[in-house]
Amino acid sequence: MSGRLDGHVVLVTGASSGIGLGVAEAMADAGAAVAINYRSHREPADDLVARITGKGGRAVAIAADVSDEADVARLFDETVSAFGRIDILVANSGIQKDAAIADMTLADWNAVIDVNLTGQFLCSREALRRFRSQPADTRPARSAGVIISMSSVHEIIPWAGHVNYATAKGGIRMMVRSLAQEVAGDGIRVNAIAPGAIRTPINQDAWDTPEALEKLLRLIPYGRIGEPEDVARAAVWLASDEADYITGTTLFVDGGMALYPGFRDNG
Ligand SMILES: NC(=O)c1ccc[n+]([C@@H]2O[C@H](COP(=O)([O-])OP(=O)(O)OC[C@H]3O[C@@H](n4cnc5c(N)ncnc54)[C@H](OP(=O)(O)O)[C@@H]3O)[C@@H](O)[C@H]2O)c1
Repeated sequence: MSGRLDGHVVLVTGASSGIGLGVAEAMADAGAAVAINYRSHREPADDLVARITGKGGRAVAIAADVSDEADVARLFDETVSAFGRIDILVANSGIQKDAAIADMTLADWNAVIDVNLTGQFLCSREALRRFRSQPADTRPARSAGVIISMSSVHEIIPWAGHVNYATAKGGIRMMVRSLAQEVAGDGIRVNAIAPGAIRTPINQDAWDTPEALEKLLRLIPYGRIGEPEDVARAAVWLASDEADYITGTTLFVDGGMALYPGFRDNG
């Protein structure tokens, strides 16, 4: 295998399913060695490792809870001990625990903030520490390291019934910009990807019946649901030197979902 990410080492969190799985596979297809993090589903992570190594690539699967500080340190230790370094973090793990605000338990609020926001903080902090410790003459890229934070269109679109989720994604929007500002001088790039509706288990209710899909498509001007590969291709590009001058921004991969489609017919 060879490609834009030859010689790079990538850690993708939440790579046992959906978007993370697609991103990890695309990074490997672009030449990177890939650490595939999972929390509870080992089998799809192991299957992905087998698929990548079967194509001549390098991959390992590592269990860790991104909301646990000690687990995150171990996750990076195991990545570096497998591949010798780390160049790209895709902080992707995420969950939903939906409820109307009056019925939302503190446990459901905390679970989503812990994984979707604090988990991204813990992984980003660890990545920055590792990027800074790697000698400049060993870098495979122009940058000293790249962080891609998996956000959502809900970093800007309010979402009733999902206040915990939208709050975490809104937090990511400012975390990415603040981090990018803080570490650009070290040659480290920090960006977010904001997917719209992507066909994965997290939102199965929204696409697995014709009625649900038809309702969903009204929100997507481009007229189709997204696939993990749509996000994966954008992530490979954003991680590569082709995007070397890009930091502190969010790339929307959403078929126009964030374009206020309710105004298409003049509001
Ligand atoms: N699908 C969409 O339409 C959409 C849209 C916008 C944004 N996003 C974002 O994209 C990201 C991925 O979502 P997805 O749709 O691919 O969801 P998914 O298919 O449900 O996958 C979620 C992944 O996160 C992992 N995970 C959950 N809790 C974790 C924890 N505590 N520590 C480590 N990993 C954990 C899961 O691992 P295990 O299964 O092994 O536990 C799984 O690999 C999320 O941040 C989500 O908010 C998705």
